Amino acid sequence: MQALASSALAARYVEIRRATIALAAPLTPEDCGLQSMPQASPVKWHLAHTSWFFETFILGPHVAAYRPFHPEFEALFNSYYISIGTPFDRPRRGLLSRPSLDEVLAYRAHVDTAVMRLLQRHPSAAADLIELGVQHEQQHQELILTDVKHAFSLNPLRPVYSPGAPTPARAAGESAWLDHDGGVHMIGHDGPGFSFDNERPRHRVYLDPFRIAARPVTAGEYQAFIADGGYRRPELWLSDGWDAARAAGWTAPLYWEQRDGRDCAFSLSGLRPVAPDEPVHHVSFYEADAYARWSGARLPTEAEWEHAAASPRGLDTVGQVWEWTASPYVGYPGYRPPDGALGEYNGKFMANQLVLRGGSGATPRNHARPTYRNFFDPSARWQFSGLRLAQFR
Ligand SMILES: [Fe+2]
Repeated sequence: MQALASSALAARYVEIRRATIALAAPLTPEDCGLQSMPQASPVKWHLAHTSWFFETFILGPHVAAYRPFHPEFEALFNSYYISIGTPFDRPRRGLLSRPSLDEVLAYRAHVDTAVMRLLQRHPSAAADLIELGVQHEQQHQELILTDVKHAFSLNPLRPVYSPGAPTPARAAGESAWLDHDGGVHMIGHDGPGFSFDNERPRHRVYLDPFRIAARPVTAGEYQAFIADGGYRRPELWLSDGWDAARAAGWTAPLYWEQRDGRDCAFSLSGLRPVAPDEPVHHVSFYEADAYARWSGARLPTEAEWEHAAASPRGLDTVGQVWEWTASPYVGYPGYRPPDGALGEYNGKFMANQLVLRGGSGATPRNHARPTYRNFFDPSARWQFSGLRLAQFR
């Protein structure tokens, strides 16, 4: 049984590591070194950091004779784990012309050989940690796409990442309201299968009766908000949101621009007309909240969202957008970060961020689940972030 589980994990490891390389395949070495803003990282850094994760949390502690690929990489490709050491400054990752892309690929191969050997010799030694490393790598796969998109959007040549790059699926027609009774319900992850620490423990929540939209808000609906002066009406906005929108000059979602009187949006497959029936995406929490107020509704809480998603009728979420909720990102009742450096993975970000639920067309298949909690700063717009409406009944 154990050998079987280990070979399944080995196959999964190989598949996910290959998928990361495949995402970098359309890019040149120069593309892979770009950092367009402090929040985004070069693809080369993502390729190295995901290997650093296996080296730091699995190979170092679990392989007695493990030889790190390069002694300086511990700090260079540490993202934010202060208990490991002082990470290289995040906004300056784009300055790392060395190591070269080829060296980073050799680093990946070095780590892959060692992880496969560990899985063969000691199948159960670090299986849970290897699964965490694989899930971590999938998170960075989505970041590779969002970060490349942002970098390419700033290039007047408007590079095409891939003609078949993922875009949100089209929403199906009019949105229906789905009614839910109030009462005490359970949310959070419990039982078999992987979950991140921040999805646990499963716990009781009290919900007032509410209704939630069957599908996310579309670009066409958002165009009506813009046409109605949505970005010029302070009464629709939170104070921080109004300030953020004014300071940055927001008049539409990120990547939108006018061409010949039409709304167009830069995408991973180049500049294309905005499709009215696609879910609006690349909006901040502040824009999502203003839209909801304009439409006479509100954003759902994450507990409402999860309860509705788990109900028999479910929610139309597949391959769409991450959805901003009204919920601050905080620990669930009884939440305890893991001991040691991995306690820094999720727990230390539980202030000043909002939870997003669902998943986007760029989220790897089988990565997200109804209990999954994504989280970003309320002004963040470079993720595939949209919204869904809710109301009290
Ligand atoms: Fe990471």
